[in-house]
Amino acid sequence: MRTSILNMLRNYPNEYLSGEEISRQLAVSRTAIWKHIQTLKQGGYEIEAHPRRGYRLKSVPDFLLPDEIRDQLQTKTLGQQEIFYFEKIESTNNEAKKQANLGCHEGAIVLAEMQNGGRGRISRSWFSPAGKGIWLSVVLKPPFHPYDAPKCTLLAAVAVTKAIRSITQVQCGIKWPNDILYEGKKIVGILTEMNAEMDAINHVVIGMGINVNISQEEFPLDIRETATSLSAAAHKPIPRLPLLQEILSALEKEYHKVIQYGFVEMLDEWRELSVTLGQTVDIIGVSQKSSGLAVDIDKDGALLVEIEGRIEKIIAGDVSI
Ligand code: BTN
Repeated sequence: MRTSILNMLRNYPNEYLSGEEISRQLAVSRTAIWKHIQTLKQGGYEIEAHPRRGYRLKSVPDFLLPDEIRDQLQTKTLGQQEIFYFEKIESTNNEAKKQANLGCHEGAIVLAEMQNGGRGRISRSWFSPAGKGIWLSVVLKPPFHPYDAPKCTLLAAVAVTKAIRSITQVQCGIKWPNDILYEGKKIVGILTEMNAEMDAINHVVIGMGINVNISQEEFPLDIRETATSLSAAAHKPIPRLPLLQEILSALEKEYHKVIQYGFVEMLDEWRELSVTLGQTVDIIGVSQKSSGLAVDIDKDGALLVEIEGRIEKIIAGDVSI
């Protein structure tokens, strides 16, 4: 019922809608409408109530609520059928893997306002304060060979970078393999996890942590010098909802392009958005450290680094610029 009331108010963005009209269309009493309006207000919706004219929707809260996400979402599958939304959760990736094992559809998304066990790559934790970022996991069932699954991370990095640039104008770029940086500081991290047989992928969970409205002082001391947020980069608060909708839309476009035409074009886009290529990088290996010039990525997404005249192929791990 609340969703129906909201949808009616949304359809008349700058106008008042009388309680009588709403109650007639939805076939419920005016008292019931009034109660639902109070609940919506408590949930952060700004609704003006005029004694004679009725109700008018002034603003919606910056929560990533499923109804708000679906409204104006320009995707065919991502976020269309299943949106699992939590105020607080351990990790959206853990929940997405659980939902995938229970048989959720491709395109299901898991979102949380905060995570208390957010996970990063290489067993790191991910700082995920309430309402200040987009902590999102997407379930895909790609028709690729498991060998190609790591390229889902590159694909996601391309999509998120494009979406951020278009919505916020923050000129961020991709550091190999999957960090998105602004002026050398990390704004987005991506963690892709796969469930596969020898020759087929069951599902892939792409987890994205996007630091949206976190001030520099709010970051824990150990990452304060290396992390930043979109609001810090843009010097203004960034509404999360349109950004999330654009990320889903861009991710779906990249994904369908890869399914239809293969990885070549996406890898070219990655090269264009990269802040790693052309830089001297330190390779953080298990046993030894070396440095060289990052010259390209190959068809598998491995980083090609020129060290003392020969080309080394870096398949996994981290590099620092
Ligand atoms: C990294 O850079 O190390 C990857 C960070 C990935 C963080 C995101 S936040 C949403 C999703 N849920 C998690 O537990 N991790 C990913």
